[in-house]
Amino acid sequence: EKGGYAWFMQKEIAEQPRALADTLLGRVDESGRLSLDEMRLSDDELREIDKIVVIACGTAYHAGLVAKYAIEHWTRIPCEVELASEFRYRDPILDRQTLVVAVSQSGETMDLLMALRHAREQGSRVLAICNTNGSTIPRESDAVLYTHAGPEVAVASTKGFLTQLVACYLVALYLGQVRGTKWGDEVTAVVRDLAAMPEKVEKVLEAMEPVRELARSLVDARSVLFLGRHVGYPVALEGALKLKELAYIHAEGFAAGELKHGPIALIEDGLPVIVVAPSPRGRSLLHDKVVSNIQEVRARGARTIVIAEEGDEAVVPYADHLVRVPASPVLLQPLLTTVPLQEFACELAAAKGFDVDQPRNLAKSVTVE
Ligand code: F6R
Repeated sequence: EKGGYAWFMQKEIAEQPRALADTLLGRVDESGRLSLDEMRLSDDELREIDKIVVIACGTAYHAGLVAKYAIEHWTRIPCEVELASEFRYRDPILDRQTLVVAVSQSGETMDLLMALRHAREQGSRVLAICNTNGSTIPRESDAVLYTHAGPEVAVASTKGFLTQLVACYLVALYLGQVRGTKWGDEVTAVVRDLAAMPEKVEKVLEAMEPVRELARSLVDARSVLFLGRHVGYPVALEGALKLKELAYIHAEGFAAGELKHGPIALIEDGLPVIVVAPSPRGRSLLHDKVVSNIQEVRARGARTIVIAEEGDEAVVPYADHLVRVPASPVLLQPLLTTVPLQEFACELAAAKGFDVDQPRNLAKSVTVE
């Protein structure tokens, strides 16, 4: 049942190209426009929305953080992202014009269920992004967009996360299309970019042996830091979460721009620092700043592991280890840069002799608050 892999997690990482393709399937018509019929929210309802709030827990929350960049860019609707466990305890401002997007692989997470019930009581419409047909969260929502990752057995979410990202992009693009923002016309082009992502993920997967080797060399690491900016920041948080939950190593993700405001004090000789480099195209200013950050931590003794796009030469002099991913549009990059971090955590945990699929103290679906 593990299809020749030692762990379900490895199998599920490898299944990601397929899971992404399946999640895109049937959602684009012949003219390249999106049709999300299953959404059950009318175009009129979608045009009325003036605020979007994404709520989720853990890895799904990281998908929500990426979603904010895509939603605000493609729809120009203000978007907030909040941990579901915090949401209803702060008296959030919600009304009929607020669309709440509840992201959950299992569809049974109690913190999220309580948060979405609260949102609906305030009159907001709730759209679930979910991987489990007929589970509680989509049943209690006004609309649902299913991810088609297939069953995820390993406790740590991998293909669940990547398909959540795709679903979030689809929601953002669909809203852009319906509301006719300046991005509406370009939906077709972005959808084409999305369709090319499964093959790019496949390319990343084919080049993972050096990452696994690196992971095995770091079994004695006491702490690992992850840095990223823009959509690379949630990827850094996700990489750190994976390493904590599987390898029980202290790991933290930081927004690289925050380094000088505190975290740089943590850098010491030999500390592994994994940096998700932004695309050198588009927002090149940001790229230059991250290159400086890599330089700064390395000058203080860090062992730098840099995940960068093919063709990004600026990072080369400062990378002790370089992991290449194919070039992609800026907003879609997390679909690629997350994969080496999943492999890294999985291999490191396995090398330490831990149960990769069932890490201690964790359950696959968290049905208590
Ligand atoms: C981490 C992980 C958890 C879940 C979180 C939400 O690898 O799996 O952080 O992402 O418990 O679960 P769902 O998506 O089922 O609501």
